[in-house]
Amino acid sequence: MPEIKNLMDKLVSLCKRRGFIFQSSEVYGGLNSCYDYGPLGVELKRNLKDFWWKAMVQTRDDIEGLDASILMHPRVWEASGHVANFTDPMVDCTVCKKRFRADALNPDKPKQCPHCGSKDALTEARNFNLMFKTFMGPVEEAANVVYMRPETAQGIYVNVYNVMQAARQKIPFGIAQIGKAFRNEITPGNFTFRTREFEQMEMQFFVKPGTDMQWFEYWKEQRIQWYDELGIRKSKLHFHEHTPEERAFYAAAAFDIEYEFPFGWKELEGIHNRTNYDLSKHQEFSGKDLSYFDDQTREKFIPYIVETSAGCDRTLLTTLVDAYDEDVVEGEARTVLHLSPRIAPIKAGIFPLVKKGGMPEAAEKIYHELKKHFHVFYDDGGAIGRRYRRMDEAGTPFGITIDGQTIEDQTVTVRDRDTLAQERVASDKLAAYMEEKMTAYARKE
Ligand code: GAP
Repeated sequence: MPEIKNLMDKLVSLCKRRGFIFQSSEVYGGLNSCYDYGPLGVELKRNLKDFWWKAMVQTRDDIEGLDASILMHPRVWEASGHVANFTDPMVDCTVCKKRFRADALNPDKPKQCPHCGSKDALTEARNFNLMFKTFMGPVEEAANVVYMRPETAQGIYVNVYNVMQAARQKIPFGIAQIGKAFRNEITPGNFTFRTREFEQMEMQFFVKPGTDMQWFEYWKEQRIQWYDELGIRKSKLHFHEHTPEERAFYAAAAFDIEYEFPFGWKELEGIHNRTNYDLSKHQEFSGKDLSYFDDQTREKFIPYIVETSAGCDRTLLTTLVDAYDEDVVEGEARTVLHLSPRIAPIKAGIFPLVKKGGMPEAAEKIYHELKKHFHVFYDDGGAIGRRYRRMDEAGTPFGITIDGQTIEDQTVTVRDRDTLAQERVASDKLAAYMEEKMTAYARKE
């Protein structure tokens, strides 16, 4: 696929036009870095989360699901280190009053304001905590401060023995969770890539010390394969190993899966060997024994954790960036999203060729039948080519046309969004046909 010029601008515009993603509170001028998912976006997001859940929970015997609350006991964030260390160094401009991350300043002009250009106008760096605070109960005082969770992981750590006992699991086993997280990012941007409110898809795998690196390698492979199955081009993905400076002091190993966005290689997911740091800290701060007793070997230990931590919104953005393409079909320019059919918001467009000859009635019958299985869309407006193109732009993999022959032999044509090939299929076999094609789908480079 050739590189597309101004891809991000085109994508943002398509997202709004077609109802994937809107700016939050747009009628009030928008709220910086907050976004709303429209009708197509919400379908895509649900499909993406289901795809992750299926791989990480439904098809596995050794992972359980969880949905922990966003507000947690404030001691959780002291134990995790977020209160003391989840900070960015910030400087303020004494002239224009804007605030900047100290590590993002021009190293050749470290005292010059990047906004107004004033020289020697920047204050010394001060640490700024990225957690959003709020108050629990009616009195706004320090004793009532609670935090909006900046990651979903801690809800998993503090529930490990609840889940283990309830689900009768033994180590090695994992807990998976999808949920909102909040960070008061200083430099949000690149559309939904970095926002202040976002969803994470995290899995924490609890293992015996000594087996942790084996599991770490296992999860690295599982996770990169997942992006391949999601339909992201392999050539656009790689691992980035954390340098000693990047790696958290307690982590024994840390790799990111990165994607090549138009704005550079960026992290999609972190895979970390977090050792026994998290449970040791919660043991220390809660005063509860969080060690595990292995009744086969009679050993007692604090489990090590291998974490896979992905961003849901960021992955969704990746699927759109990776899918966006422009080509020419029958002499006409088209925009097409090569989304994997597994996550495409609409699976098929249903088109009566003309509004007569029994075609609309036959098409409606097929529409109502397919609706029981998939999200499908009925469209009888305008020339067939335009109807195809509207669906191409929404990433719909199949275009089903009901024509004169349908009335005679109950077959329809199915057009493939990517190859444009058309096949004649019996209308009562459509659901099975689509299911088979979706299962066999593999992304082309
Ligand atoms: N529990 C580990 C953890 O939270 P992280 O690297 O800070 O690790 C994991 O975050 C993933 O969450 C990232 O790889 C990214 O996909 C997503 N993420 C983090 N901050 C984000 C933000 N401000 N906006 C959107 N996604 C974000």
